[in-house]
Amino acid sequence: MLLKFPKISEVKSHEITPENIYQGRRSFLQDSARIGAGMAVAAFGLQSPEGRAEAGSETKALENIIRAGTFDTDERPTSFKAITTYNNFYEFGTGKEDPARNAHSLQPRPWTVRVDGHVENPGDYDLDDLIRPHALQERIYRMRCVEAWSMVIPWVGIPLAEIIKKLGPTSKAKYILFETLKDRKQMPGQRRRVIPWPYTEGLRLDEAMNPLTLMAVGLYGRDLPNQNGAPMRLVVPWKYGFKGIKSIVRIKFVEHRPRNSWRVLAAKEYGFYANVNPEVDHPRWTQANERRIGEFRRRKTLMFNGYADEVAHLYSGMNLRKNF
Ligand code: MTE
Repeated sequence: MLLKFPKISEVKSHEITPENIYQGRRSFLQDSARIGAGMAVAAFGLQSPEGRAEAGSETKALENIIRAGTFDTDERPTSFKAITTYNNFYEFGTGKEDPARNAHSLQPRPWTVRVDGHVENPGDYDLDDLIRPHALQERIYRMRCVEAWSMVIPWVGIPLAEIIKKLGPTSKAKYILFETLKDRKQMPGQRRRVIPWPYTEGLRLDEAMNPLTLMAVGLYGRDLPNQNGAPMRLVVPWKYGFKGIKSIVRIKFVEHRPRNSWRVLAAKEYGFYANVNPEVDHPRWTQANERRIGEFRRRKTLMFNGYADEVAHLYSGMNLRKNF
């Protein structure tokens, strides 16, 4: 039997920021004016075809979003097209353009998430019952990939802490393991064992509870396009992009540090913590700078991707060269 939280559609307040408003009026970010969902969708719909991704253009506008402004960067968001056509999602191929081309086979609804391990409310949850609607927020985050490129993405989601509190981890729960769907029919890239399937990731419980950590269900005011991890993916903006596991079907509360796919494959290259750190190079390239998608000159990479004030305390006393 599926368990229930209140549904997304039960939310009343709303505010959406479409791409043309982000790009054209930066002052909007400081602006407290609210935009009706209908107007925002209309504005989005007027965009030129190249502003929309092929496979992503079918996504629905989300009706009810609160734009709290907390933690938003005022840097220029990357275009919707780049965010939805330059992806890493190996379940649909290893090329950057493969996910946009191939992810149409993923069926994001209905979607069930298994919650198990050391938790008071285990069970199989329908996605729409798991996401707490009153807390659906827009957050504009800098994102930094381990491959030394970066983007700015206007995510829509809810703080992961909200979900965790509702699920009620027991005192034994110290970490959370996340798992992506494993289904070769929906995810043709899984026919090749490029990484161990299903894709798995983990966070320490306090990292997961940090207010920055988001469970995203959308971007640019719309449902997540399949290639970005529909219907639900993790967003941890102070860590390298690979921690942002997509299309999650399992949340398991565990006592010991879980194994994650990239560490199983190459532990020397991809640490469990994966905090963005310009001082600790990847064995094969520098992490001191990055290429922002859409820009030519490289930027300096910031410690914890610029979120040190919010997260540095999580690692006090830890050697970040060892715990990379
Ligand atoms: N999640 C799954 N299931 N499979 C993947 O291959 N790639 C990761 C992460 N999550 C990946 C994944 C990597 S390496 C990155 S950089 C980000 O997703 C990319 O997210 P984006 O395509 O939305 O920018």
